[in-house]
Amino acid sequence: MEIFLDTANTNEISEILEWGIIKGITTNQKIFLKEKGCNFEEQSKKILKMVEPHPVSLEGPNNLDELLEEAKKYYKWGKNVVIKVPMLADGSGLKAVKILESKGIKTNVTAMMSVNQAMLAIAAGASYASLFFNRIRDSGSDPVDVVKKSRAIIDCGGFKTKLIVGSIRNPSDVVEIASANPHIITIPYNILKQMPYHERTVSTLDEFEKAWDEFKKVEKQC
Ligand code: E4P
Repeated sequence: MEIFLDTANTNEISEILEWGIIKGITTNQKIFLKEKGCNFEEQSKKILKMVEPHPVSLEGPNNLDELLEEAKKYYKWGKNVVIKVPMLADGSGLKAVKILESKGIKTNVTAMMSVNQAMLAIAAGASYASLFFNRIRDSGSDPVDVVKKSRAIIDCGGFKTKLIVGSIRNPSDVVEIASANPHIITIPYNILKQMPYHERTVSTLDEFEKAWDEFKKVEKQC
């Protein structure tokens, strides 16, 4: 299972890149809204270069024709561009997947809440399919069950799609969703930053450091 960072903030990306744990970036319009005053094209190009060769998902408009136009533009910004295709209610997003993937442009079908939707994205040949953990839970379904069943469709059918789980709000969500075995979990910076901490680790390391100070006082000199 891989970890992606769910952000469009370059400071966050450079800090977490140094941890050596992230294998991709996901963004959406709300995430870009947080980067007030940035230019979408400039910021996207910066991110694509920073994380190359790892994939960066960029979201387009919720309209088939406009999405295809935007995708043609984004695709030129870097070899690691992935186009986020919305799971539109009339199924036209699937058409976009077919067109883009046939041209060698990777897609990530996004905002998915059900196994039915995931099944369609997988069958359409999307490179990635994104299920939204907390939004699924908000709608009354069990996100772990949705992820497990979607993953089983991919594995049993030998499909190429990688399952991404986003909409993470707490470190405990990461633990829960890992048990459902998605290929990727995309985690926001503020959640990822909480994950190395455990109060017992802090107290254990303090205990060891004090012991080391004591040891140094009585250490035999050569
Ligand atoms: C990732 O691809 C999604 O866009 C993101 O995780 C959605 O998160 P939200 O439910 O917090 O908006």
